[in-house]
Amino acid sequence: MPDEYAVYARGLVRRYGAKTALAGVDFEVKTGSVTAILGPNGAGKTTAVRILTTLSEADEGEATVAGFNVRTHPHEVRRRIGLAAQDATVDPLLTGRENLVMLGELYQMGRGEAKSRAAELLTEFSLDDAADRKVAGYSGGMRRRLDLAATLVAHPSVLFLDEPTTGLDPRARNELWGVLATLVERGTSVLLTTQYLEEAERLADEIIVIDHGRIIARGDARQLKREIGGDHVHVVVVDPARLNDAAVTLSEVTGAHAVIEAATRAVIAPAADGVQTIVRAAQALGAAGIAVEDLSLRQPTLDEVFLELTGQPANADDAGVPAGGR
Ligand SMILES: Nc1ncnc2c1ncn2[C@@H]1O[C@H](COP(=O)(O)OP(=O)(O)OP(=O)(O)O)[C@@H](O)[C@H]1O
Ligand SMILES: [Mg+2]
Repeated sequence: MPDEYAVYARGLVRRYGAKTALAGVDFEVKTGSVTAILGPNGAGKTTAVRILTTLSEADEGEATVAGFNVRTHPHEVRRRIGLAAQDATVDPLLTGRENLVMLGELYQMGRGEAKSRAAELLTEFSLDDAADRKVAGYSGGMRRRLDLAATLVAHPSVLFLDEPTTGLDPRARNELWGVLATLVERGTSVLLTTQYLEEAERLADEIIVIDHGRIIARGDARQLKREIGGDHVHVVVVDPARLNDAAVTLSEVTGAHAVIEAATRAVIAPAADGVQTIVRAAQALGAAGIAVEDLSLRQPTLDEVFLELTGQPANADDAGVPAGGR
């Protein structure tokens, strides 16, 4: 495995009884870069993170992290990585400072060193004011920042972040993105999982889209959009009852799968011939007697890309969350 990779995994398979959580996937993170594993609930994201961080073993396949094989050299791997698990790992009954000092001591630092490292991280993650309060009283955003600080205590070279911003309100999410961006600038290699396209687009150099344990697309945000065929024809129908008919018509015109966005009464399909496709779509919709409110040529958003790849919205469960932040 070349040194240029902080994470290099090939053919990972993991089964839970009859359920295949990972069905043979390849992941890599180039040293000093960020790879996002993007996928909906149950896609296999945590399963992948657990294998790469030695918490669980693959049934098939091989993975190297920070230059060591996770199966044969788990201790070497553990010494070099930080993990912010999906479920917070800090102790709610301790203060933020106590948590970080305790971790430092676990990593065999002397008490003095553990204390100064904790102070450094508390400042860096804007937790000075809350440092000596019990974590149980922290907001969601503060807790996630502490999680992140905790992964960094021992100066890891590879960071694993399992859904670092899930459950945070938009402001807390933005704050955390800022913190993550600074980390990345410093050259830490990061593998993060997310259900948010915007997060992947904003933080990652490489995006790997998984669903049902399989990779369904990969590339940077631009490539992912291009892969789906660039321009899309976007039709808004007057009568929601005609959405299905409109999808059938658009599929015939484009020769591609048309996706329905019921909430906006829209049907979307790749438009390989650009404006020509629009003209033919207008004619076919007219011939089918489907009244159209809007018909346009658009670049897909990443959300639409995801919908087209997986047949389901990325953030189907992205409901309201309690206020976090400061
Ligand atoms: N310990 C387990 N026992 C049985 N099935 C499991 C176990 N862990 C995961 N699975 C199953 O494997 C699949 C992948 O789960 P995983 O937790 O990796 O998904 P995920 O992408 O992390 O989802 P989420 O976004 O909800 O965290 C799911 O169908 C899940 O039910
Ligand atoms: Mg998970």
